[in-house]
Amino acid sequence: MLERLSNKRILLGVTGSIAAYKAGEVVRRLREQGAEVKVIMTHAATEFVTPMTFQALSGNPVYEHLLDTNAEAAMGHIELARWADAILVAPASADFLARLRLGRADDLLMAVCLASDVPLAVAPAMNNKMWSDPATEDNIRVLRSRGVLTFGPDSGEQACGDTGVGRMQAPELLISHLAELFETGALAGLHVLVTAGPTREALDPVRFFSNKSSGKMGFAIARAAIEAGARVTLISGPVSLETPDSVQRRDVVSAQEMYDAVMAKMEDVDIFIGTAAVADYRPDTILAQKIKKTDENLQITLIKNPDILSTVKQRYPACFCVGFAAETQNLEHYARNKLHDKAVDMIAANWVGADTKGGFDSDKNAIRLVWREGEQELPMMSKAKLARELVSHVAQRFYVRHKSALSGDNILHFNQKESTDST
Ligand code: PMT
Repeated sequence: MLERLSNKRILLGVTGSIAAYKAGEVVRRLREQGAEVKVIMTHAATEFVTPMTFQALSGNPVYEHLLDTNAEAAMGHIELARWADAILVAPASADFLARLRLGRADDLLMAVCLASDVPLAVAPAMNNKMWSDPATEDNIRVLRSRGVLTFGPDSGEQACGDTGVGRMQAPELLISHLAELFETGALAGLHVLVTAGPTREALDPVRFFSNKSSGKMGFAIARAAIEAGARVTLISGPVSLETPDSVQRRDVVSAQEMYDAVMAKMEDVDIFIGTAAVADYRPDTILAQKIKKTDENLQITLIKNPDILSTVKQRYPACFCVGFAAETQNLEHYARNKLHDKAVDMIAANWVGADTKGGFDSDKNAIRLVWREGEQELPMMSKAKLARELVSHVAQRFYVRHKSALSGDNILHFNQKESTDST
């Protein structure tokens, strides 16, 4: 289980509590498991342990100040928020929990927690009376409802001499809970192919038709599928995003190139997720020279591009296919139509258009998932979080489908593809 932490980037927040000395052990054990660790200390934490201790244990500089002129564009909190795969605050004092609940950003750790969309876990440590105070209980309830994970606290003898609940959980337990956040194993052993980004359809040497897709949704899905234990191939149109760790990426430009790249990889794909905004049409000819501004009107003939999603499903019916639907009206109606017309297993429908908060190029999105027997609303959230939820639903439906296929006459096995293509 713990190899799940290998190469993971863990941001450890240390706040003002006597348990701060145990955070050194957390750093040591995380590194033992192959994780890279960066530590942020609050001012109060430095009263208990020196930054030098964590610098030596983590092998990285320790971060303390919100306004750091050495950080790129003086925005250290954003850099750190982007760097982390998960944030663990251990120990988390009563004061820290209260400030987190309020959404304050008055020190580096608070600002990073606000700016990040990766899993955030807290390991409370305080006197048992402080832990059971209604104010702390209320803070914890609100934080949990927002998705903050709480590890502990445990019960036992406390530094102040009292006995009760409030001790920080032991470092080995914290690490084992943290490991559970990665690689759920829901897609272990499966090959997932994701398409992402826009396509560009050339008109002449300098012009093309395209759309506003940034690739963020597809890249987040590729990352979430890796976390779920899958082998992931990502075929992307032109975007400026970094390849998620362990993902095998192939870049393409046009819809035809994306089609060719997908078909070349399909042989052992178990799950296909079409997030790319593929151009439906392309100019019938690409002119060799730049079009000149001579005529009052210009007519361009467009011809249809191949439909990647439909073709994948036709040729590989055993592959679990998820299509996206980008709609500006009647979301559910068009999603159901697409599910039927493209004969796929699931459609993830999202609103796009001028007044929409999610969709193209946004860091957030909301999805209505529809499949033949049901549907599920996934409300507005970060694309990273949404991708994890989507992957979890896809895994559930994948296994339901395979279970029923295996119990029926027409037995299909993982990785076994039945080609209906006669060409
Ligand atoms: O990239 P981001 O900025 O993060 O934005 C994400 C997104 C809005 C692009 C994404 O969430 C999304 O909605 N992607 C699908 C966009 C789209 O092209 O939808 P569509 O309704 O036109 O196509 C339906 C499905 O058919 C899609 O799965 C598409 O990949 C697929 N398709 C379409 C045309 C074609 N020739 N081949 C295809 O495979």
